[in-house]
Amino acid sequence: MSALIQLRDLSFSYNKGKNNQVDAVRHLSLEIEKGDFVGIVGVSGSGKSTLLYLLAGLLEPDCGEYIYDDKNITKISESRKAALRNSDFGFILQDFGLEGDRTALENVCLPLVFSKCRWGKMKKKARAVMERLKIDDLCGKKVNELSGGQCQRIAIARALVHEPQVILADEPTGALDSENKKILMNLLSELNRDGITVILVTHDVSILSECNKVYKLNDGEIETVKK
Ligand SMILES: Nc1ncnc2c1ncn2[C@@H]1O[C@H](COP(=O)(O)OP(=O)(O)OP(=O)(O)O)[C@@H](O)[C@H]1O
Ligand SMILES: [Mg+2]
Repeated sequence: MSALIQLRDLSFSYNKGKNNQVDAVRHLSLEIEKGDFVGIVGVSGSGKSTLLYLLAGLLEPDCGEYIYDDKNITKISESRKAALRNSDFGFILQDFGLEGDRTALENVCLPLVFSKCRWGKMKKKARAVMERLKIDDLCGKKVNELSGGQCQRIAIARALVHEPQVILADEPTGALDSENKKILMNLLSELNRDGITVILVTHDVSILSECNKVYKLNDGEIETVKK
């Protein structure tokens, strides 16, 4: 059986062809199996977030191929890509990407809005995932009145609420204290044991022990650390 994710010679530059061009990902090839727990490390600016955006189909590679679940993502339409992103991917963004003037519960519900789920059912699902992350007390609070760590946990709940196949997590423990870091890592491990593929970008080497594969990005090029 072929790997869930296959990247072949993928490259991406910001400001392509301009004098401020940045080659953020260079000739990157990588295979990720269903059920892998992958860690990606690298210094600031090495291309980690760019790689996650490419995996989520939010950026279009300049060249190379991206195969997900036997579908050639580099060839499918924007609308099919958006539908796939909605059904299969949960993205914990580095800057959270929450709507500040909406409540925590409304933010967590957002991925379900596209799934034609009823409002009552949406709220029930969102509350359940917030309970699991021990943030159900924040349901009615506006996001712009919350702390960085609380926002991070809401971003995590939002990434999990639609039960994705793949979790893309960009520094998910960056704003968490040690207790909440442990809760999150236990949760990611539990989801991984249920068969969900986790791809985690981090500076925190203490959480890499959970990963069965670890890669390092050096200036957009990938190196295997543990396989
Ligand atoms: N929107 C953008 N326009 C132009 N250049 C960008 C843009 N976003 C990122 N870059 C550049 O691309 C390179 C890779 O950036 P990226 O955000 O992927 O790094 P990173 O490894 O996630 O860094 P960090 O650990 O600081 O989050 C960097 O040199 C960065 O300055
Ligand atoms: Mg980043």
